[in-house]
Amino acid sequence: MPGQPAVSVRYYRPSDEEAVLRVIQASFAPWPAFDIGVAPIDHLRWKIECAPDPEATHMVAEANGQIVGIRLCLVRDYSNNGARVTVRTDTDNAVLPEWRGRGVNAAIGDSVFESSPAELILSSTREPSLIRRDQDLGHRPLRNRFVSASSLLSQSFPGAAAMSVSEIARFDERIMKLWTLAVQPYEFILAPSVNWLNWRFCDQRGGNGFVLQTEENTDVTGFIVARTSRGKGHIAYLLALPGRGDVIQPLIAACMTRLRDAGVAEAICTLPEHHPYRETLLALGFTHKRRRIPVTTRLRRTGDPERPFRHDPYARIHLMLGDFDFI
Ligand SMILES: CC(C)(COP(=O)(O)OP(=O)(O)OC[C@H]1O[C@@H](n2cnc3c(N)ncnc32)[C@H](O)[C@@H]1OP(=O)(O)O)[C@@H](O)C(=O)NCCC(=O)NCCS
Repeated sequence: MPGQPAVSVRYYRPSDEEAVLRVIQASFAPWPAFDIGVAPIDHLRWKIECAPDPEATHMVAEANGQIVGIRLCLVRDYSNNGARVTVRTDTDNAVLPEWRGRGVNAAIGDSVFESSPAELILSSTREPSLIRRDQDLGHRPLRNRFVSASSLLSQSFPGAAAMSVSEIARFDERIMKLWTLAVQPYEFILAPSVNWLNWRFCDQRGGNGFVLQTEENTDVTGFIVARTSRGKGHIAYLLALPGRGDVIQPLIAACMTRLRDAGVAEAICTLPEHHPYRETLLALGFTHKRRRIPVTTRLRRTGDPERPFRHDPYARIHLMLGDFDFI
């Protein structure tokens, strides 16, 4: 376009912090979209720390020395049938209003595509131009769809006292033993480190909530992460030893009791449509809400080996809101 300054794309640097926040706040109101007990700049700093190397992950687009577009990415490992796979999700795509519709976001996308270390891209967006971009890049919807169930919190919950459930401030190394066993039934599930879990679920800059854990003989048998915002409670993550419905039930019941006592009116849990925890949720009074969160995946490069869980409506996938940045 004549007279239009050229846009160049580069990695994020710590000195970009304020400019990145300006672009984000010009694009999303409010940001973050959920209640949080810290200033937006602290939430941004938290988010930027999500990747092992933030300065080789997040991207900015510049024109005339001004940052006009940004993309923040969440990079973490998953276990796919026991093999580790690095997965990227683009969490915040934003371009200053006066720069939209000129290919800035597409330019960032081309650049991310070249440089990303990820082997699989997981995406969730309701923004039409991003959906079109994703489709062009080969994204396909997860066939085992990501669907919410919810429960009003006026009742009492059976099983809350059946097992000792305690609140923790941070995860410790024992969580890795639980993880090694708990991942076994799943084809696709997060493969975090203790540090990643503490960053994601135990850092106040990430959101408001709490973590409850169950133990037997000093071993961790399960945990649940709750996030609260705008009068609702979300089960952001839940995991227990395989086949231990007797752990899942008290964890959910204790979480619901605590949310109810805090004045929360409704609890929401989003899971793949076919998932072993759904039965327990229904037994505790959750109903299918039919609110579907669109999730798509694509292989990083054409010709990369296929990952069949993407196309199987009954795939054994463990995916929860805590896998994303929604809450
Ligand atoms: C979504 C968003 C990041 C897109 O950024 P953008 O820079 O406007 O995106 P692009 O310019 O690359 O693409 C937008 C459209 O312009 C078109 N376009 C691309 N290059 C163009 C150019 N040089 N001239 C004219 N149009 C162009 C694209 O084809 C695309 O069309 P489509 O929507 O019909 O598919 C931006 O609109 C935004 O910040 N929105 C608010 C925040 C938000 O909702 N983010 C998404 C959720 S994370």
